[in-house]
Amino acid sequence: TYVVTDACIRCKFMDCVEICPVEAFHEGANMLVINPDVCIDCGACVPECPADAIVPDIDREAAPWMEVNKRWSAVWPVISLRGETPAEADAHRGEAGKYEKYFS
Ligand code: F3S
Repeated sequence: TYVVTDACIRCKFMDCVEICPVEAFHEGANMLVINPDVCIDCGACVPECPADAIVPDIDREAAPWMEVNKRWSAVWPVISLRGETPAEADAHRGEAGKYEKYFS
């Protein structure tokens, strides 16, 4: 499966949603997550994300976010149509410590 990392928080560009063939993305207030039971491992979303927020689960970076994706995809609604990117998205690109600062 692929995993959305904290790089998505407050960026939420949503290019990933449009390319996903199986509606694996779920939307929270500040980030999207991937449902690991729905993701078919196609990897199409990875190059689409301007924040480089999506990694395969075998990536070292993925480990802390696998539980976040699993847990919140069971709670947040599926997003199948791209919404509006937050106005401040570019300002938060690459910012450190976003989970601690903004996750909700
Ligand atoms: Fe987030 Fe990247 Fe999608 S910033 S909403 S994972 S395109």
